[in-house]
Amino acid sequence: MNTSAVPDPADHERLLIIDFGSQVTQLIARRLRELSVYCEIHPYQNVDDAFIKSFAPKAIIFSGGPDSVVREGSPRPPKAAYEAGVPILGICYGQQVMMQDLGGEVHGGKISGGGGTAEFGRAFVTPEGGLDLLQGWFADGREQVWMSHGDHVAKLAPGFEVYGVSPNAPYAITADLSRNFFAVQFHPEVHHTPRGAMLYENFVRLAGFSGDWTMEAYREQAVEAIRAQAGDAKVICALSGGVDSSVTAALLHEAIGDQLTCVFVDHGLLRLNEGEEVVEMFRDHMNLHVIHAEEQELFLGELEGVSDPETKRKIIGKLFIDVFQKYANEIEGAAYLAQGTLYPDVIESVSFSGGPSVTIKSHHNVGGLPEKMGLKLVEPLRELFKDEVRALGHELGLPAHFIARHPFPGPGLAIRCPGEITRAKLDILRLADAVYIDQIRKHGLYDEIWQAFVAILPVRTVGVMGDGRTYDYACALRAVTSVDGMTADYYPFSHEFLGETATRIINEVPGINRVTYDITSKPPGTIEWE
Ligand code: XMP
Repeated sequence: MNTSAVPDPADHERLLIIDFGSQVTQLIARRLRELSVYCEIHPYQNVDDAFIKSFAPKAIIFSGGPDSVVREGSPRPPKAAYEAGVPILGICYGQQVMMQDLGGEVHGGKISGGGGTAEFGRAFVTPEGGLDLLQGWFADGREQVWMSHGDHVAKLAPGFEVYGVSPNAPYAITADLSRNFFAVQFHPEVHHTPRGAMLYENFVRLAGFSGDWTMEAYREQAVEAIRAQAGDAKVICALSGGVDSSVTAALLHEAIGDQLTCVFVDHGLLRLNEGEEVVEMFRDHMNLHVIHAEEQELFLGELEGVSDPETKRKIIGKLFIDVFQKYANEIEGAAYLAQGTLYPDVIESVSFSGGPSVTIKSHHNVGGLPEKMGLKLVEPLRELFKDEVRALGHELGLPAHFIARHPFPGPGLAIRCPGEITRAKLDILRLADAVYIDQIRKHGLYDEIWQAFVAILPVRTVGVMGDGRTYDYACALRAVTSVDGMTADYYPFSHEFLGETATRIINEVPGINRVTYDITSKPPGTIEWE
C-alpha cells in the first residue's frame, strides 16, 4: 500500500537501478530523471526474485561497485533480473557481474596478477562496428570516458560482441543484441565521460520508455496521493521559507487547502525583511494558513552572552522544537506533520560492513517531533532530487527568486556572527548582507553561486572616514560554488567586484569599516563560519 503522500510509482514506467555500492550510483538516477524516466535505486541485498517481479521494471541497470566479482560471496543480482525479458545495462562492476553470471570470465586486476590491468581515470574508447546504444557517439572517432576498475573481463559471455575498445579495456563496450543486454567497463554517468548522458538516452529509448516522469504529472499525482493519505485530517508544516519547505507547503495547500496550517518560527536570526516576505507571500498571496511565531525575544534572550558555536546551535535547536510544539498544540486535531524530505535523504546505500544503511540528514529542525507529538509524517517530496523540487516549485507557481534561493541554515545568522550575538551586531549584519546580495544580483552572479553571505567578525578595527577616525566592526564576505554543500570552492570574484562591494558596504552600512573576502575552500574550511 502506498502510505506516503507521493505518487504511486506503479503508475509510471519504471527503471530499476540495482546498487552494488558505487559512489556515483545517484548520478545514474539523476541522468535518467533528466530524461523524464522514473527510476529507483535499490541496494542489491534488497533485490530478490520476488522484488523484481513486484517492481516490474521496464529496464534494469547494474551499478558499479567496489567489490571484486572474483571474490567468493561478492554481490550478485537475482536470477530474475536476467529472466525478466527487459533490457539491462551493466556498468563497470555491473559489466563484470553480468559476464560472470552469464558464462564469461573475469580476472582480478592487480590483485591476482591475472594479466589484467587496473585502470583509473580518463581513457579513450574507439568503436568496433555499430551499435544503436552508441548513436551520436564517435563523431570525432573516439570518446573520452572515465574508467575505474581493478578487475577486467577476460572472456565474453556467449552471445556478447565487442563494440568499443580502449587501450586497457578490450571489452570497453559489449552487448548481446538478442537479449538487449549492454555492458560497459566505464562510467557513463560521470562528468568525466562528457557525452555519457547520450548512452542513457539511447538506452531508455531502446527500452521503449516514453518519458512520462514530468513535473506536471508528478504534481497531479502527488495532490491525489496527499488527499488519499490525509483524508479529513489536519496537517502541520514547519515553514522556513527555504525551497524544500516552501514547495512542500504549496503542494499540500493545493491538495488539502485549509486542512493545512504552517508554522513559521521567527527566531530573530533571519535576513533583512525575510520574516515579512515569507509571511506576505504565503499568507497574503497564496492564502495559506500561516502562524507567524514571533519569538525573537525568546531566542535572542536565551542566546545572550553565549559565544560557543555548539552551545548556540543546541539552544536554538531546543527552543525551535519547544516553540514549534507550543504553536502546533494549538492546532486542534492535527494528525500529520509535513516534511520536505528529499530522495537523496532516503536512498538506502550499500554498506559493506553490515546490511543496507539509511542515510538521513540530521538537519531537519523538527527531527524527533513526530514521535513526541504522536504525529504521522507526510513527505510529498520523497521521490525528488533538489533540481526536481525546484521544477515542481516552478510548476506550482512559486516565484523564481524564491525557488532559486541560496540555502540558509536553520540556526540562521547566529552562526554568521562568531562570538557573542547582540541585536546591534545582527542589525549591522543584515544590512551588510543585503548590500552584498544586491551586488551579486546586479552583476548577474547569483545563480552561479551556491551560497553567499556576510559574517560579522568579533573584532573592531580603526579606520578613517572623511576627517574622522572610526572604530567599527570588520566583516567577511563568503561566496562558494558547490554541488551539494559537502565540498565547496570559494567563488573567484573579480577584484573590481570586490572593491566595488567593499566600498558600498562601508558607505551604506553604519558600523562596518573594513571588508575582507574569505578564500577558504571546504575542506579544510566549512561553508558557514560556525
Ligand atoms: P557547513 O558550514 O557545514 O555547511 O560547510 C554546509 C551546508 O549546510 C548548511 N548548514 C545548515 N543547515 N541547519 C541547516 O539547516 C544547520 O544547522 C546547518 N549548518 C550548516 C550551510 O548553510 C551549508 O549550506
